[in-house]
Amino acid sequence: MTETEDLRARIATALSHSRGRTAVLTDAVDGDDLVRQHSPLMSPLVWDLAHVGNQEELWLVRDVGGREPVRQDIDNLYDAFQHPRADRPALPLLSPAEARSYNRVVRDKVLDVLDRTPLAGRPLVADGFAFGMVVQHEQQHDETMLATHQLRAGPPVLSAPPPPPATVRVSGEILVPGGPFTMGTSVEPWALDNERPAHEVDVPPFLVDAAPVTNGRYAEFIADGGYDRPRLWTDEGWAHRTAAGLEAPLHWRRDGDGWACTRFGVTARIEPDEPVVHVCFHEAKAFATWAGKRLPTEAEWEKAARFDPATGRSRRYPWGDEDPEPRHANLGQRHLGPAPVGAYPDGASPLGVHQLIGDVWEWVDSDFTGYPGFAAFPYREYSEVFFGRDYKVLRGGSFGTDRDACRGTFRNWDYPVRRQIFSGFRCARDASPEEVG
Ligand SMILES: [Fe+2]
Repeated sequence: MTETEDLRARIATALSHSRGRTAVLTDAVDGDDLVRQHSPLMSPLVWDLAHVGNQEELWLVRDVGGREPVRQDIDNLYDAFQHPRADRPALPLLSPAEARSYNRVVRDKVLDVLDRTPLAGRPLVADGFAFGMVVQHEQQHDETMLATHQLRAGPPVLSAPPPPPATVRVSGEILVPGGPFTMGTSVEPWALDNERPAHEVDVPPFLVDAAPVTNGRYAEFIADGGYDRPRLWTDEGWAHRTAAGLEAPLHWRRDGDGWACTRFGVTARIEPDEPVVHVCFHEAKAFATWAGKRLPTEAEWEKAARFDPATGRSRRYPWGDEDPEPRHANLGQRHLGPAPVGAYPDGASPLGVHQLIGDVWEWVDSDFTGYPGFAAFPYREYSEVFFGRDYKVLRGGSFGTDRDACRGTFRNWDYPVRRQIFSGFRCARDASPEEVG
């Protein structure tokens, strides 16, 4: 196989993998359920379903392929910038059957375009970028649809084997040495514009938790009055905590002297060793203050994840440059929740930081902004229009993030009040001179 044939085969596999996941998420419920809005925060599943097809048509059929439109008349309906999620159920959307057949027609054309397009030259197609962008886009909507499933009431419709158990004990903090490291990437072929370009950042020495904060630790924060002490919260965080009546992570409820949580329709006692999930940025920050620590900055998080002190270079992933395998990280909706701390020793970074990739997205204390030298590509609406103080960054991916949509450089962003996403965190703190040694 030539290199191009190999790339085409990998793209075709990735396209079919994402479509298979979309089918799992949308075939699991009936038509009524697909058109219903399960939360004002989310679109009806049938909107996501046709939206992934519409984006695929726009980029791959029309732009890359230069072909005639399939359904230009529906572009506006599925333009996320035209209609906020809360308004989408009232739109004259394609029915589930229409959406599925539209997606099939588009996909057939895309596979033909893939066969005929030279994957070099024009930046949009070089290394298959536009195809990779579309694969990642569908996977991102699959994760969004998984979050919709989590918000949906009713008996369970999704199933998966439980995550692996812990095989090593992971606790305490890891010292990350001070000095420059390479953040972002200029060489990862499917990296999105906001991950580019690679640039040097000088990070002072700091300590980072070896693992994400667990349910058990988070329950201690609650038991110690964490939600009742304004001084642990920022002014903005406290105002939100009060207005929204926050008392525990989303989906938690009291169960005797402890806590239970409901996950995809199944209620059980919380697992103390699993990373806490469904907390907002403000909750993460209040916990960190309570623990005498802080959240890592985005640069600190990425240095902890990618920096190899032996070579001085930044890896693609904490474990090295190889693509994620199931032994490295809890990704891809193979399991319907995070794995306990200590379940992925093969995925640890060279410094010994665990579970940075997969399990839960990790809030970091940084606004979403462009790196020095940022250039919007292929359009401003991908990232640039979100830059600024409104959005906080999340890193590392969750159990619901596919490996094609996750890298050591990958950046997610959301409002600091959001917690319907699979969001957790870990803490960090400055290193004292004695600790630096
Ligand atoms: Fe989208």
